[in-house]
Amino acid sequence: MISQNQEVAKLIDGKPVSKKIKDELTEKVSKYLAAGHRNPGLAVILIGENPASEIYVKNKILACKQIGIESHMHRFPGDVQTKTVLDCIKELNANEKIDGILVQLPLPSHLPTEEILLAVSHHKDVDGLHPYNLGFLFAGKPALQPCTPRGIMALLEAYEVPIKGKHAVVIGRSNLVGKPIAALLLQKDATVTSCHSKSVDLEGICRTADILVVAAGRAKMVGASWIKPGACVIDVGTHHIQGDDGEKHICGDVKFEEVQKVAGLITPVPGGVGKMTVAMLMANTIFAYEQTLGLAH
Ligand code: GUN
Repeated sequence: MISQNQEVAKLIDGKPVSKKIKDELTEKVSKYLAAGHRNPGLAVILIGENPASEIYVKNKILACKQIGIESHMHRFPGDVQTKTVLDCIKELNANEKIDGILVQLPLPSHLPTEEILLAVSHHKDVDGLHPYNLGFLFAGKPALQPCTPRGIMALLEAYEVPIKGKHAVVIGRSNLVGKPIAALLLQKDATVTSCHSKSVDLEGICRTADILVVAAGRAKMVGASWIKPGACVIDVGTHHIQGDDGEKHICGDVKFEEVQKVAGLITPVPGGVGKMTVAMLMANTIFAYEQTLGLAH
């Protein structure tokens, strides 16, 4: 429950929640293998040399290994032609051993992101970014859902954060996080406000939030004065910054130390939402595998 008048906010810890999900998936896969089915397969397309993407992809491949999902890496240089990527996706769409295809974002600027995401079969769209799946999501129907929003919803559920009738404010309107998390919160009967860089009095709007999801992509943007006492704060940002000590640090979109003193619940960075994104990618891959093989969920 959201609580008030405490010294510091309770941490929403992504580690045990994501571990439980991954453990359940591992058990599922071993049962399917024992019954004579093939391993689930995930193809990852990584283009160029973005250091953050390298880390994300490494974590995804590692999680596949833990769970028993076969991962297939497809690396391309930063100047790859669109046709080469589309041909690769076509092959993967037809490959019966591949249940999920993930195109790591962002893509180099010369590539048409929308066209490439559209080329992925919606059955294998484990990122939930194909318009088919996004359409189902906005219609409130079951489909493959984007991993980070799905992970946020799982965290809110695990920590029994009340959503019905509450005011949820989302900063950011990306297809990857902002728009889908707003839709999922709305489905759970929250009153949702979607904010972005052009919103007037962003700070004032945020101060009315019972649940604040920050997916702004700006390091340490949200301070204590933005927070309603006792609110639940979900920080989606991941930034590698140089600290006062000269060392590299990871921080989110929220000024954690000061916000922690006002909020009731808060996700840390790292160790909050990021872990859930990977777990939900695994869950989506197993879901696609089960659909393909006609297995019960
Ligand atoms: N880049 C940052 N987050 C994500 C994600 O969830 N999926 C993909 N494909 N790329 C990302």
